[in-house]
Amino acid sequence: MENVPPPSRKRAHSSLSDEDASRHHRPVTMSADPAPEASRPKRPPPGVDADTYFHNLYRTEIDFRQLALEDPSFAKLLKQGHLDFNDPSSVVQLTRTLLKVDYGLEIELPPDRLCPPVPNRHNYILWLKGLMDSTSDEDPGKSRVRGIDVGTGSSCIYPLLGCTQRAWEFIATDIDETNLEYAKRNIALNNLEDRIRLVPRTSSDTLIPLDDLEDARTADFVMTNPPFYESADELDALARKKSRPPLTACTGAPVEMVTAGGEVGFARRLVAESRRLRGRVRWYSTMLGKFSSVETVVEMVRGEAGVENYAVTEFIQGAKTRRWAVAWSFGDRRPSGDVARGMKEVSWGKVLPPRTEYEIALPQRPGLSAAVVGRCIDELMGGLALTEWRWDAEKLTGLGRSRENVWSRAWRRRQQRIEAGVEEAPPETEGGDAAACAIGFRISVVVGLDDYTVVFRWVQGCDAALMASLLAFLRSRVEKFKGVEGLEMYIVK
Ligand SMILES: C[S@@+](CC[C@H](N)C(=O)[O-])C[C@H]1O[C@@H](n2cnc3c(N)ncnc32)[C@H](O)[C@@H]1O
Repeated sequence: MENVPPPSRKRAHSSLSDEDASRHHRPVTMSADPAPEASRPKRPPPGVDADTYFHNLYRTEIDFRQLALEDPSFAKLLKQGHLDFNDPSSVVQLTRTLLKVDYGLEIELPPDRLCPPVPNRHNYILWLKGLMDSTSDEDPGKSRVRGIDVGTGSSCIYPLLGCTQRAWEFIATDIDETNLEYAKRNIALNNLEDRIRLVPRTSSDTLIPLDDLEDARTADFVMTNPPFYESADELDALARKKSRPPLTACTGAPVEMVTAGGEVGFARRLVAESRRLRGRVRWYSTMLGKFSSVETVVEMVRGEAGVENYAVTEFIQGAKTRRWAVAWSFGDRRPSGDVARGMKEVSWGKVLPPRTEYEIALPQRPGLSAAVVGRCIDELMGGLALTEWRWDAEKLTGLGRSRENVWSRAWRRRQQRIEAGVEEAPPETEGGDAAACAIGFRISVVVGLDDYTVVFRWVQGCDAALMASLLAFLRSRVEKFKGVEGLEMYIVK
């Protein structure tokens, strides 16, 4: 997810997503791009090698002309460069075409159920990929990941998209018979029966079915796109306001759109279940369709579940469609900055979790090579009584863990008292060093044009004050590297 190059070619989507366009009830003009490119990048097989391909999908406008060239069924619906978003069959065809040409997936949809806009659903999967990758101890794509999609819909879109990108497996639930029937068909159409397990639920069951499945007691993530509205009246009023026919492929059926308490009510149930299941799921998450719900859900996560390790993001698709998502974890692995705080800070400062990435700039000057900066960092951190410090001189990156604050003056003084026999040493923690990790971090040296950047990444721990103290220590030492020859003399042991 981090450092992915920009799109290599002009591709992808209209300024309005299909969902957005159906909301706004007007046709969308195709991109004015004059010359469609002859070929698209080949879709790689699932795995990390496919990340760049998927990251670049839908980053620019969908070129309908190109899409029409690639799929005759789509070409038939394009009238003088326009796709009529008032026509449910056009909306469905756009979704089917994008799934076919971009993912190699086939789906069938009933006429009276929600038709998922692909770019929006794609964004949620990209974010989850970043969440999984940046909070795993293993290299991205190495471990087997199990996701639970609560309310998968007739399309079963999230499991289909997830399985196409990574070797993931899914448990997909729904309470609606039609949705379940079509989801089953769509799983079979794409030969994914061995990786997507459909679990029918009722509205009084728990949302997360882990207690009811003997062979699946844990999961890596829970995802859901919950019904938005609180009542059928709210849905009807909106449909009237936007003068569109209710219960079409654009709007969905009441079971898909309405739930007690709306999306916040659904999220409240998830938060309550997560408090019970805790670490049996690494990350719980929900998408949100209302701007106001984000703050409410973050308050629930922090207040009711007492969780400070959370992530908030915004999915922007086109000029008008915005969705948000919140994820939370009872574990102590911290997500990367782009995942944890995927929205603009100015307006969202108060709902965002603490930062996990910091940069300290160091101007370049003669005699100060990146290797020297790296050696200084290595000696600085290696000189502390950390539980673990491993420096890779080639990659200029080090990983450290500590059971407590061993960089403070107070700690050094206490050690001196222990050594002098004035104070007793604390007892060993059960479970060894891994269990005793209060903070895990990575420090890297990145070479820029005129400077080096010392990048500090908080990877593990729940104590933001401890992290801030370590960062302040690192900053003060790196500050001393500036403008002085013989940096080693500044390393305090
Ligand atoms: C907004 S739709 C999302 C469908 C699909 N995931 C998507 O993103 O296009 C909400 C889905 O949740 C399902 N649903 C509603 N209540 C549910 C519950 N208690 N447990 C599981 N699914 C539920 C609905 O039938 C519907 O398929």
